[in-house]
Amino acid sequence: MGWGIIANLDRRPAAEPIAALFGSNSSGNSQPVKSPSRSGVFEDNADARMEAFAESISFDRRLYRQDIRGSIAHAEMLATVGLISSEEFAQIRDTLREIEGELDAGRLPIRFELEDIHMHMEQALIDRIGDVGRTLHTARSRNDQVSTDIRMWVRDALDKLDGQLEALQHAFLGRCERDFYIILPAYTHLQRAQPVLAPHYWLAYIEKFARDRERVADCRRRLNRCSLGVAAVAGTTLPIDRDQTARLLEFDGVTANSLDTSSDRDFMLESAFALSVIASHLSGWAEEWILWSTVEYGFLQLPQAFCTGSSIMPQKVNPDALELIRGKSARVMGNLQTLMLLVKNLPMAYNRDLQEDKPPLFDSFDTVSAMLELAEPIVAGSELVRETINDRLERGYLDATTLMEWMIRKGMPQRRAHHLVGAIVGEAMRRGVSLANLPLEVMQSHAAEIDESVYDSLGTKNAVAAFVSYGSTAPDQVRAQIARWTKILHGCSPETSPGSADS
Ligand code: ARG
Repeated sequence: MGWGIIANLDRRPAAEPIAALFGSNSSGNSQPVKSPSRSGVFEDNADARMEAFAESISFDRRLYRQDIRGSIAHAEMLATVGLISSEEFAQIRDTLREIEGELDAGRLPIRFELEDIHMHMEQALIDRIGDVGRTLHTARSRNDQVSTDIRMWVRDALDKLDGQLEALQHAFLGRCERDFYIILPAYTHLQRAQPVLAPHYWLAYIEKFARDRERVADCRRRLNRCSLGVAAVAGTTLPIDRDQTARLLEFDGVTANSLDTSSDRDFMLESAFALSVIASHLSGWAEEWILWSTVEYGFLQLPQAFCTGSSIMPQKVNPDALELIRGKSARVMGNLQTLMLLVKNLPMAYNRDLQEDKPPLFDSFDTVSAMLELAEPIVAGSELVRETINDRLERGYLDATTLMEWMIRKGMPQRRAHHLVGAIVGEAMRRGVSLANLPLEVMQSHAAEIDESVYDSLGTKNAVAAFVSYGSTAPDQVRAQIARWTKILHGCSPETSPGSADS
């Protein structure tokens, strides 16, 4: 198999064809290397088709920084317990840093027969420092190595994701004051239901993304245990110090059962699920704003920088960014399915199937990150179209429930009030007027209890103002929630406790 150069290690898409990645003989050295994993009982070389089929370097090259960091920590621990000398550790550490620098610059030969990032890094070390490099894999297997590498990678990716979710929350919060006095219809079943303040919508999204951030934090907390030292499956007979390795790599502790650890990919499933929920929230939001930006709704003007035109219809401004956010969410959910199916029938412990975990996981992180990168400027840069919203706001009887509750406050049983308001709305529909424009005598002909003061609760503006319950769209409630979120987002860490009706 040929040699090549790894370039842009953490940027190329996982699905890129291998041939395009590696080029041929670009290092000038074409000596085949016998795979370290075949230096045991093997007499025959691997079939080239087998090597091409089994390689993972085309996608796990993204783990090189984690792999090098994990190896340096492992070597330091080996030196501390006396399994290698401190000079050997220093040589391993300095050489691995040198290799990392070359990889950062996109220079390092790759060799198919070395399968994965772990063997590439080890071989690069051995090529440079010979026997000292051959000590690094003491008390370690690629099984615990890959588990630790991917935990560190996911940990970083979750931190980035949290930052992006927070930025999106800021974008919604930033709209709350400027849109405060705009009233929008709230829908159920996509039918006009009750009036709400526009910031009530924005706060709804802030809440959804807050739960997403809690899920992200939860995934991070559970995965943050170091698996190095589990070795292949049963542990090691050598006197290692797992706690030291864990500390050096900033884990909260070590995993407790080697069998479990060698087989465990729960943390990937959880992350893929958390990503799927985020994708679902983004997709629902995108769908809503696509609708709102149509002539039929006319609620929203999207920023043109995130729209595209038509090659044939000059008038078109299409919401492609939102459509792609909605469309790409399918891949993220598909990746969760792939991961679930991948692990569901595996006997303990490590099985090579697990190598297939990385492409869907990387893809989910990449896709959601790209979705969030666009969502934020779209949220910040769109404008509500007050005229169209207001023009149609008094249509759809958004204040009918308020009228019913006005009658309940006057002492009427809910079922009777519901029935009577139904009749009153029917009457208004036949006359083609809003409830606020229905004469008092007409209302009284349905319910004699109604008096002049009812008009203080009719019309969307009055109706919005009439809400009082905690979490409702009442202006005071919305103001309190804006204040709460301003404190959380501009103050400190994400709040995890639920709100209280007394707060
Ligand atoms: N490339 C492998 C993976 O991603 C590394 C572990 C290989 N272990 C083994 N025993 N073959 O899972």
